[in-house]
Amino acid sequence: MSPNPCAQHGRHTHYQHREYALILSCEGYADFKQAITNTFLDLFHSPDAPEFVEELSKECDRVLAAHNGEWTKAALNELVLVDSAIKESMRLSVRVIGMHRMVSHSLLFSHTAVIHKLTLLQVTAPNGVDFDGFHVPQGVRVAVPNHFIQRDPDVYHEAERYNAFRYAAPGGADKVELYLQQKQNSLSMPSDSFLAWGHGRHACPGRFFATYLMKIMLAHVLVTYNVAAKGPKPKGIARNEFPIPSVTATFDVKLRKSTQC
Ligand code: HEM
Repeated sequence: MSPNPCAQHGRHTHYQHREYALILSCEGYADFKQAITNTFLDLFHSPDAPEFVEELSKECDRVLAAHNGEWTKAALNELVLVDSAIKESMRLSVRVIGMHRMVSHSLLFSHTAVIHKLTLLQVTAPNGVDFDGFHVPQGVRVAVPNHFIQRDPDVYHEAERYNAFRYAAPGGADKVELYLQQKQNSLSMPSDSFLAWGHGRHACPGRFFATYLMKIMLAHVLVTYNVAAKGPKPKGIARNEFPIPSVTATFDVKLRKSTQC
């Protein structure tokens, strides 16, 4: 499979576009699998799991009933607690460093860069970049310490604790207020203190899709099963910069009474 443009027309072929789409999706799905697995581990291993799960299940049951049993986009947008529970896990388990950038004179986007993230994402800056009294010359590679920013105690109260409802309190505000608050705090919204999707021009374009997918997965499990973690949360593996969850966790999973025949 060659990434080179079609020799005859100098353009990328449909085949090559499909190849790129596949490569980009593979990159995204690795992050996706890690994020949703970490969410299950954080949520069900939390000392507050019974309270969290009860409120989350109530939300899912209520929203699903109001939308005739279908997880439509509108229904998923109403799952503000589920949104918060996933975001909180992504706050705690994020790529240790992120937003790698190289100060360069040209823009280059290669699929090798997307896979390895080593990384060839480049900004156009022949004279380097100046900010906050620093001068970063062309050719220098910069990155952001995500892990420490997302656990900063000056920003996050009890920063080391998994608080499923950090970004949305159960039963609180009225609908309009809740919507505004949720939009600001929502899972797919990057901010200076939430960098799991990166930030700025190169922020993850797959984040809206990934957010809906993760919300459907967690919501489906909550309406269908009673889940309880067995034993303490196993430690994950930090490989390069990635927060890879353990695969040794075990759970008790039973069909919920309301879903049994
Ligand atoms: C939970 C799932 C995901 C996470 C945590 C995630 C995270 C990230 C991060 C941190 C970046 C780098 C952003 C930056 O440097 O500022 C990124 C870039 C990217 N992601 Fe995702 N991603 C996820 C899912 C996906 C999915 C499902 C897709 C595609 C279907 C996708 C496609 C991309 C692409 C194409 C880029 C490169 C954007 C650019 O360089 O301009 N991602 N992602």
